[in-house]
Amino acid sequence: MRIAVPAEAQGTETRVAATPETVKKFIALGASVVVEKGAGLTSGISDADFEAAGASIGKNAKETAKDADIILRVRRPSEADLKAFKSGALVIATMDPYGQEAALAAMAKAGVAAFAMEFMPRITRAQVMDVLSSQANLAGYRAVVDAAAEYGRALPMMMTAAGTVPAARIFIMGVGVAGLQAIATARRIGAVVTATDVRPATKEQVESLGAKFLAVEDDEFKQAQTAGGYAKEMSKEYQAKQAELTASHIAKQDIVITTALIPGRAAPRLITSDMVMSMKAGSVIVDLAVERGGNCELAKPGEVVVTSNGVKIVGHLNVAGRLPATASQLYAKNLFAFVETMIDKKEKTLRPNWDDELVKATLLTRDGAVVHPNFQPKA
Ligand code: NAI
Repeated sequence: MRIAVPAEAQGTETRVAATPETVKKFIALGASVVVEKGAGLTSGISDADFEAAGASIGKNAKETAKDADIILRVRRPSEADLKAFKSGALVIATMDPYGQEAALAAMAKAGVAAFAMEFMPRITRAQVMDVLSSQANLAGYRAVVDAAAEYGRALPMMMTAAGTVPAARIFIMGVGVAGLQAIATARRIGAVVTATDVRPATKEQVESLGAKFLAVEDDEFKQAQTAGGYAKEMSKEYQAKQAELTASHIAKQDIVITTALIPGRAAPRLITSDMVMSMKAGSVIVDLAVERGGNCELAKPGEVVVTSNGVKIVGHLNVAGRLPATASQLYAKNLFAFVETMIDKKEKTLRPNWDDELVKATLLTRDGAVVHPNFQPKA
């Protein structure tokens, strides 16, 4: 059982799919592990660290992936990457498969069994494999750190001989995994925190973190959570009421962090350009939804925009990747937990149970075909 960990080719990807800790665990399960030269460097892991954990170092992508039964990655492999993989190998990554039919077809054609970690069901057994949560949690924390860095003032209240510095007001829009961590982080730094969401369950969570909840709590709000625990897309009427409620609040904030997402749709537009224009010079908006179309009308992917009225709008991409060492540590652990379920521990061999609900939910391609139900041609 050979496991390969190639370096991530994309220029912006700082994370790596294994750590010395997970390498040791894989070896204990009977695997051999090859890590591509330099793969861990941006996450603060040297080749020597991987070697000390028992991995061997592959000098390039081709050599690393040669004969591997399992290939662990952060991002979906490119067509060029696939050429080095053997047919039948398991390829496990964050696949970002929507709208990527050609890439899916290429993985099918390469004969690999491709797994999308972000499709992992959010059930108790799979919590330890939940890459969306592990990475969103870090993004929520990092959003506050990035906001603090862009903000020209201190966040906590300070009483000094030279005068009193007021605590910053921070408003978190969208209280899923990222939003909750942003609230907790902003509170720890000493900001005055308010938060909003459309799911009623979030009200108590916000209050338990010592922040104030603000939302239009009408009949539609009471039914905004799907059985799966996600938000629904709200009606035009609700959105108008929400905008009316939040507009005057946003005008008084020093920092706004937006994290609102709706599965399978573009991010809801929560901050219009008028709202940005109502904010004070020096205020900061961090839009964590920028990769999915943005919650803020003026946010630009990968940029920090400074508006004519002096508001900074932060649109960093891959925010979890801005904490590469921690993000890799947690991501690698998520992958290990999933792969472990596919290893026969007595025989020390790879034996996926293709009927397991975790496998079925995440498997995109197998035996030359795209097998996931979400990507079948419409009848
Ligand atoms: P997400 O990333 O899909 O969305 C972020 C937040 O945006 C959500 O709280 C959503 O309600 C909110 N939102 C959507 N539209 C909005 C709007 N128009 N205005 C304001 N807010 C809006 O959510 P995430 O972080 O993936 O969490 C979704 C749910 O899954 C949560 O209930 C979370 O607690 C739950 N969960 C359960 C896990 C489990 O293992 N049981 C693990 C992780 C999350």
